[in-house]
Amino acid sequence: MSAMSASSGTSSPAPVVIAKDLRQVYAIRRGIMREPDHLQAVGGVSFSVFPGKTLAVVGESGCGKSTLARMISLIEKPTGGELDLAGVNVVTANDDARHALRQSVQLVFQNPYGSLNPRKKIGAILEAPLEINTTLPAAERAEKARSMLSLVGLRPEHYDRYPHMFSGGQRQRIAIARALMLQPKLVVADEPVSALDVSIQAQVLNLLADLQEELGLAYLFISHDLGVVRHIAHDVLVMYLGHAVEQGDKKTLFSRPLHPYTRALLASTPGIVGSGMASSRTVLTGELPSPLNPPSGCVFSTRCPLATSKCRSERPVLRELAGRLVACHEADQFTQTAAVQH
Ligand SMILES: Nc1ncnc2c1ncn2[C@@H]1O[C@H](COP(=O)(O)OP(=O)(O)OP(=O)(O)O)[C@@H](O)[C@H]1O
Ligand SMILES: [Mg+2]
Repeated sequence: MSAMSASSGTSSPAPVVIAKDLRQVYAIRRGIMREPDHLQAVGGVSFSVFPGKTLAVVGESGCGKSTLARMISLIEKPTGGELDLAGVNVVTANDDARHALRQSVQLVFQNPYGSLNPRKKIGAILEAPLEINTTLPAAERAEKARSMLSLVGLRPEHYDRYPHMFSGGQRQRIAIARALMLQPKLVVADEPVSALDVSIQAQVLNLLADLQEELGLAYLFISHDLGVVRHIAHDVLVMYLGHAVEQGDKKTLFSRPLHPYTRALLASTPGIVGSGMASSRTVLTGELPSPLNPPSGCVFSTRCPLATSKCRSERPVLRELAGRLVACHEADQFTQTAAVQH
């Protein structure tokens, strides 16, 4: 099921997340006397995430990935757009409803070192969410923590150990276990394997995939690395300077990327370069523009080798083309190119 056909399927389960034109604008004051500047971190992004499926959000540093993660996980209220989580409208929900919703979405961060309290044993770390949010007696909390340890591939004796006694990969397993203690419907993972060695990355990605299958979890998986995304995503959302530039199902996007930015990202990812990319002429050059002063017209126009005067003056809307959504005036020329071999 693709990210864009959210409402077309009748037999598919209801989405866990429906985001429509989601926006986040920060007011930045750069001096006491000055009016605040407005930084649009996310400029209108729409997608759905389904049970048992992974939507990967990719793009360079500063494109708005973590801001999106904070909105979806209810840490920050969007400044615009609509957000439905587990069937509840987050924007209009009252505080009690938002609090209840918080349990259905959990976060896993990039840095498993920073996110685990070094003075607490693993058992206590895993049981804390149950202690705060449920009335389960201590014995049952301990039992749940122990069975979660085995679910994420750790051993029962790890229950009594401290975070510093674990490797980076094991700590990320602990962080994943903690995120699952309240049986969330959605896990938002913000660069969850970026801090790990490549060999360990594969193990954690496999664990996430196994857990998804077993528990029917929906993932919003954030990464700057398309090589990682290739292993875990069902759908992909490519962002640039706060905007979606291309989105659709992974196979369609990876085999025939249409946006010059997606093509450049793919061309620079080891192991993904193929015949279709050779003719794309798309190499990422130049500086990323400041989000405080975004280009007029297409946000990618200052770095795009195909940019025309139309691109520099007229912002392309996200439109359906060759089975996915793409925001580019020039994308049609790639619909006939050979598919990329992986
Ligand atoms: N609280 C904030 N106040 C003001 N600006 C912010 C705030 N949070 C993020 N930004 C800005 O919003 C933009 C998007 O930031 P964000 O952290 O979402 O990007 P990202 O894609 O997660 O980047 P990275 O790959 O480096 O983690 C950046 O320009 C950032 O400086
Ligand atoms: Mg980030």
